[in-house]
Amino acid sequence: MAAIIDGSAAATQTKDELKQRISDLASHGIVPGLCVILVGNNPASHVYVKNKEKACQNMNIYSQVLRMPEESSEAEIVNKVEELNRNPKIHGFLVQLPLPSHVNTQRVMNTILPAKDVDGFHPINLGHLLMGEAGPVPCTPAGIIHLIKTTGVTIAGKEAVVIGRSNIVGKPLALLLLRENATVTVCHSHTQNLAAVAQRADILVAAIGKARMIKRSFVKPGAVVIDVGINKDENNKLCGDVDFTDVSEVAGYLTPVPGGVGPMTIAMLLRNTVEAARAQLL
Ligand code: GUN
Repeated sequence: MAAIIDGSAAATQTKDELKQRISDLASHGIVPGLCVILVGNNPASHVYVKNKEKACQNMNIYSQVLRMPEESSEAEIVNKVEELNRNPKIHGFLVQLPLPSHVNTQRVMNTILPAKDVDGFHPINLGHLLMGEAGPVPCTPAGIIHLIKTTGVTIAGKEAVVIGRSNIVGKPLALLLLRENATVTVCHSHTQNLAAVAQRADILVAAIGKARMIKRSFVKPGAVVIDVGINKDENNKLCGDVDFTDVSEVAGYLTPVPGGVGPMTIAMLLRNTVEAARAQLL
């Protein structure tokens, strides 16, 4: 039976470590400030943003949510971004994705000041990640690396397979795993014989967006399995991309949904915000 990786406990520990840095900042008169721009009515986005807001309230981080209507123009969103770029109380901010389809997401992202880009999605920060230089790292991939390390399994030299090639998770995670000296394979919708490729993995990450798609036939016995999916099944029950019951019988370590990657993602967002505020001291 797989050991369950407790993402909530790992996130609590990371947040406890951050509290010291936040009180150091307070002694310099700095309260870290985070803002989220939320455009439109995507129900999942509203839940994620609520969770981000709640996390800040428990941490002495100033937080603000700017809600904008679905029909907001790209220019209106860019104006908000530019206001936040100039706002000295806000050390970091993000634009919750997805944006409505009439908006060019990349154009909006490109407007964010890289020093305030706590998502790490700006091309300059993604470039730093590619080059192995310091800078904010996208929160979900950073949280996944942290969770893998909590198992005590060494990443260096291992076969890591990432299923999904999104700009938010799959691609930046592949770069981070490479930085940790794993041998990395990225799979996607055109990958042939996915189960056979996945079965090579000592570390398997599922970021697909399909409820319970990963069965035990995809998993090498003893592997570390990280489930990034947040889906609703046919009974409207929250579930991941991994069939938890089935895979838990062969995996060595497995993250649950909820209580796995999600809480760790938020902890990493808070960390990026505190680091952005600390940069003000340098
Ligand atoms: N939508 C889903 N995940 C994310 C994320 O990590 N950041 C942003 N901005 N939007 C998201």
